[in-house]
Amino acid sequence: MNILLKMVQIGWRGHRHLLSIDDFSREEFETIFATADILHTYSGEGKQLDLLKGFILKPVFFEPSSRTQNSFEAAMLAMGGSTLSPHSNSTSSMEKGETQADTIITNAQYADFLVIRHPQKNSVRNFTKLLDGQTNRAKIINAGDGPNEHPTQALMDLHTIFKKFNTLDNLTFLLVGDLKYGRTVHSLTLGARKFNNTKIVGFPVGNLKLPNALRKNDYSELDLGQLPKFIKDLNPNSKTVIYATRIQWERMAKKIHKDFDKLDSSIKNQIKREIVSQFNYKISKELLDSTPSQTILLHPLPKGEEINDELFYSNNPKVVPIEQMRYGLSVRMAILGLFAGKEKEISTLYNGLSDISSN
Ligand code: NCD
Repeated sequence: MNILLKMVQIGWRGHRHLLSIDDFSREEFETIFATADILHTYSGEGKQLDLLKGFILKPVFFEPSSRTQNSFEAAMLAMGGSTLSPHSNSTSSMEKGETQADTIITNAQYADFLVIRHPQKNSVRNFTKLLDGQTNRAKIINAGDGPNEHPTQALMDLHTIFKKFNTLDNLTFLLVGDLKYGRTVHSLTLGARKFNNTKIVGFPVGNLKLPNALRKNDYSELDLGQLPKFIKDLNPNSKTVIYATRIQWERMAKKIHKDFDKLDSSIKNQIKREIVSQFNYKISKELLDSTPSQTILLHPLPKGEEINDELFYSNNPKVVPIEQMRYGLSVRMAILGLFAGKEKEISTLYNGLSDISSN
């Protein structure tokens, strides 16, 4: 009850856009999670709310996406809103030479939410500067700006963890993989720090270490080879999150081979395999079995070499990326609903809430 009352009081607190997870407080996270919990019930087959009727979302992805784009679209539809067809360079006027900035300004005239993904750091923030100088209704959601941040992924990651442990305090996070370019790792690190007694240990693949700006006292970094021993030495009562990520090849392609992008995919895959084979970079069933009982393995997906299909599709209760994906829908419904100022309407969806909503 308390959290619902708080949810109505806090709402979206007037954030103009959603750019960094760091712009949000713990209280706001909890509001989003409580909202997601309510909306989860309404995200199933055949269900549709009408809370966002008349609102329009435009996906503007200058980089590929499977989960983020689809789940935002699905969230909008589940909330009763509409979506415009996703931006594509080849079918928009960008094909005629229109700039990205003009494309964003154009889309902002027709949609309430622009969900933008772009390969450059801070690009999405820079797009908001264009909008904020004009009168328009559009709010921008950062769906990943290069190697920088992916705030809504962190919200769904934290929500998943909360669903599993019923707390986000006193957790140990083991970040495994590409900590340098992995934007989901960056947003998760910033988000996890809003909670009490967070401990973060990085296990980067090779030199793909967490950027300096994200290293705080709660962070330590070990060699990837030390992961099995570190896990064995964990307090058996600790609540542990292993956050595995793929290597962001596209962000370092030029460093690997000057024409990496143009190589045949079988050659690309061989190069990748050779690089990965230098490191013991796989979360195996055996490794997971050696973790404390309260351990979960999360992955933002897509997965690479770090987790094989057998483990991924096993019904091992510690492996939660599929649930994590599913929570992406209700978390994004919550983001859109709160962003549109529908917190009161959402709170009344909750049974037994009439006493609060009449206040
Ligand atoms: C991630 C991304 O785009 O940063 N994907 C996602 O949105 N779930 C992770 C990745 O591409 O590795």
